[in-house]
Amino acid sequence: MKISRLLDNKHRVLLTFCLLGNAVAGSVVEPIQPLEPRKGLDQDIVVLGKRLFHDTRLSADNTVSCAHCHKLDLGGSDNMPVSVGIKGRFGIINAPTVYNLNAHVAYFWDGRAPTLESLIQAPLRNPVEMGTDWPEVLDKLKKDRVLVEAFEKNFPDQGMTSETISRALADFMRSLVTLDSPMDRWLKGDEDALTERQRRGYRLFKNYGCIACHQGRAVGGNMYATMGVMGDYFRDRKRPVSEADKGRFNVTGEQEDLHVFKVPSLRMVAWTSPYFHDASAATLDEAIVTMARYQLGREIPPADVEDIKHFLHALSGYHPLFRERE
Ligand code: HEC
Ligand code: HEC
Repeated sequence: MKISRLLDNKHRVLLTFCLLGNAVAGSVVEPIQPLEPRKGLDQDIVVLGKRLFHDTRLSADNTVSCAHCHKLDLGGSDNMPVSVGIKGRFGIINAPTVYNLNAHVAYFWDGRAPTLESLIQAPLRNPVEMGTDWPEVLDKLKKDRVLVEAFEKNFPDQGMTSETISRALADFMRSLVTLDSPMDRWLKGDEDALTERQRRGYRLFKNYGCIACHQGRAVGGNMYATMGVMGDYFRDRKRPVSEADKGRFNVTGEQEDLHVFKVPSLRMVAWTSPYFHDASAATLDEAIVTMARYQLGREIPPADVEDIKHFLHALSGYHPLFRERE
């Protein structure tokens, strides 16, 4: 932490890349690890959380549930540039997936929520998302005897409160792990789990240096980075810089956090177009080209882009709410 504070972003990336490069060469340590189910979750609380996740009473006019923007069968996002909340109101930023959040440093693009529990009130209160607040939600849900009883059973000391609702939703999300992706089967020793092309894509992903930021279990989510380490992305984008574009600066107020974002997990990336916080890339090809250009200072040939894309497709696994195993 201290070392990385002393380095500017460009050097931080190069340093990580060198360290990882050494760890990879000549050893079996891979910079990406397979996902594992979250242990220790109470299944009854998870089921309760699942019910709440799909409950439109969590919004002011009973039209919008969490699943409205985080479509679990479509990869946990909504495939919209910005989300649409109550009364057709538009949001200001692209919705990320809710799958595979367990290994994240913090939540939201700018990392402003330290835990999944603390995150819940944000969409609830956001006037363009659910537009309500706890007293109103509790008032509605407390009229539902079945739900109230389920809370009393699972949280005997507390019953239904804003904390227990948040806890149930958070535990449900902790259970949303996509297992047995081709990449994970390959990491666990199944040589044939990846195609030739996907293996080449993974090698390129490491060799170009994507791995310096997208790594670990979630292939991202475990660090922050500037959007535009090697080039001025926001100048070239030719669109005025918005509040959302400021990223982590909005949380810390530090100049060095301007345009810094949580590195997104690439685990479900084949499903979650469009890409980037501003949805500026409609396709994975575009996203890969932009990343190479602005994060690594490289123009990479179309054949390599294609191979990396094939590799990224190998990162989607299975979850009963997403898709069944073949
Ligand atoms: C109107 C659409 C909408 C609704 C409804 C909504 N979300 Fe979101 N969600 C978003 C958007 C947009 C973001 C990104 C916000 C940001 O990063 O500033 C987000 C971010 C998140 C994240 C952070 C993921 C990450 O990678 O850090 C989680 C978790 C999440 N939402 C869960 C929920 C839950 C639980 C609910 C229901 C209580 C909910 N959302 C309701 C649109 C929505
Ligand atoms: C310096 C760190 C860094 C490097 C290196 C890097 N990325 Fe990223 N990546 C990020 C950040 C930060 C974002 C989010 C940017 C934004 O939304 O404005 C991102 C976003 C993405 C996205 C979009 C994900 C989504 O859900 O919207 C893809 C795809 C991606 N990166 C792939 C790659 C590939 C492929 C490479 C190598 C060619 C690469 N990245 C190199 C930091 C990095």
